[in-house]
Parts: sequence; structure tokens; C-alpha cells
Amino acid sequence: MQEKINELLSEVEGFKAESKEQLEEFRIQILGSKGKIKGLFADFKNVPNEQKKEVGQLINTLKEKAQSKLDEFKGKLTAGENASAASDLDLTRTGTPVMLGSRHPISIVRNEIIDIFSRIGFTVSEGPEVEDDWHNFSALNFPPEHPARDMQDTFFVESDGEEEIALRTHTSSVQVRIMENSEPPIRTLSPGRVYRNEAISARAHCFFHQVEGLYIAENVSFADLKQTLMYFAKEMFGEETKIRLRPSYFPFTEPSAEMDVSCSVCNSKGCNVCKYTGYLEIMGCGMVDPNVLENCGIDSKKYTGFAFGMGVERIAMLKYKVNDLRLYSEGDVRFLDQFKAAF
Ligand code: DAH
Repeated sequence: MQEKINELLSEVEGFKAESKEQLEEFRIQILGSKGKIKGLFADFKNVPNEQKKEVGQLINTLKEKAQSKLDEFKGKLTAGENASAASDLDLTRTGTPVMLGSRHPISIVRNEIIDIFSRIGFTVSEGPEVEDDWHNFSALNFPPEHPARDMQDTFFVESDGEEEIALRTHTSSVQVRIMENSEPPIRTLSPGRVYRNEAISARAHCFFHQVEGLYIAENVSFADLKQTLMYFAKEMFGEETKIRLRPSYFPFTEPSAEMDVSCSVCNSKGCNVCKYTGYLEIMGCGMVDPNVLENCGIDSKKYTGFAFGMGVERIAMLKYKVNDLRLYSEGDVRFLDQFKAAF
């Protein structure tokens, strides 16, 4: 019996398969249900008891060796098959091109604005695009007869309630929601889409994007506003950028100002982009009117704050020298493709 096993062992050890068929033959002959190892197990009952342990171990070793031989050649033969499949590949053929998308210029600029302000502690907050009269106008100190409420400017939405509902005309509405729902100090930025009932042209559109900024705390002054906006202008347009604040009027800020940045196209010498003034207007700003603070439940004796609002399209126009607002929403890939490398 032992001799038989050893013979089989050397047969197994010496085995080499050159084809899958040969290997299958080996499997059937040696390991199959009617194979030689099965035969050994059948003869095992005739082995004298005192030899059973030794012979049993030998048969098991044989079985393991046969199995690993089988696995070894299975691996080798399939690897060979794959290699020949690989050699059928024509590696010189041009591949299927992967279409690369790009971020929209409005998203690029909006993200850049957020990035600049988040470095000095501003968070991001959002509000609804369909707004009620209170958040879009009344809380922001717009008198009832203010022209901005006029049908000319605002898209009203039909509503059953008493209060008028409209598409927000500015992201200052988010300012109100934040003040109503949080305690100072507040330092937040509200980016979003706004709507106005304007005829579409190169310089105006019925929707565009704004970023509103709000900072409320104790002892916030106009100097803080100026420094914050100067930091922003330099980060956005370059270290050599100068800013200019001109007195202005907004119902929700007092005092109010408009901010200009020095024209980077002509270095403030005067060109057709800045209409020979050397400066370009980029945003409105001011100290939050105490009435607005009170409307939103904030103690105007304890807290002061500043706010600012800018149009993202306008900043993107200056940054990328885009001369027609309509390009931003037409989805023309010849326009959009130019921003591939911009983020
Ligand atoms: N909401 C103004 C607009 O849409 C922009 C603005 C001006 C926002 C002054 C402000 C601000 O927060 O202080 O034209």
C-alpha cells in the first residue's frame, strides 16, 4: 500500500501540463470521484490498525500535493491565455476621448469670493429664492411706496395670503433671516440667485447672482467695513488694487456707500472699460440701519454692523473681460470651454 502511495506521489510530483485538456485528464485520473486517490481511500480499510495513522497521513499528503499541482497549472495556463489575449490588443490605437467638463465662470467667481471671506471668519448661509414681502422689503426698511416694489422691478408670485410673495430681488433677504434666527456676533456671507423684471440685454438680465455679506457685533465701525472690503479687493483683483467709497443710499444701511476698485485694464489711467474714470463700481455697502436691527430682534443700542452686496456676474465680467451678460446663461460651450483651466 505504502509503495503504491509513494509511486503515485512521484507521478504527481513529476507531472507537467501543457494544455488544459492534459490538466483535466490529470484531475480526473488522480483527484476525480473514480480516481486513484479515491481508490486508495477505498483500500484504506484493509490497512492494519497499527499502520492506519501513518498511511492515512501519507494519503493526505498525496492529496494535498495533487491539489496544489492542479492549482499551479491552472494558474499558469490561464495566465498564458491572458497574455495571448493582451498581445492581441493594438496599443497604438487612439483611445476614446474623455470629455472634460469645466466649472461655470459664475461658480468659479462665487467660490473665490467665499474662499476670500472664509479666510477672515465668514460662514456661508442661504435662503429661499421665493420670498415674502417682509424678508425682501419691509424688514429691510423699504417704505411701502418704494419703487423697488414696483411691478417694473419685481416678479410677483400669485398668492392666496395677505402678504405679497415674490422672487427675491436681492440676497439681502437672507440677511434678515440670519439676524432673526441667530445671536450676534454674526459674520456670514449669502451667495445666491436673484430676479428682476428687466429687459434682457448685454448689460441687464432678468436673473443674476449676488453675494451678500453681514457682520454684526459690538463696536463694529465703518473703519472695519473699509478694511474688510480693501482686503477683499486686493485678494480678488491683486495687491496693487485701490478702492474708493462714494456716498450712496440704500434703505437698509446708514450711512451707505458704493465701492469702486481701480481699473486693472488701464491701471487707472482711463480706458473704455472704466469709461475713462480709472475706477469700476463693484458693490453697495454700509452700516446696517438700526431700524433693520430692531426689525430682526437685535438690540441696536448694544450692537452695530456692516453689510455689503455685490453682483457675481459683474466681478466675473471684470476678471475675465466678458462683455455680454447673456453669455453666462446661454450654455454655449465655445464660451464655457474657455474656463477649463480657471479652477
Ligand atoms: N441689496 C443691494 C442691491 O441688490 C446691494 C447691497 C447694497 C447690499 C448695500 C447690501 C448693502 O448689504 O449694504 O442692489
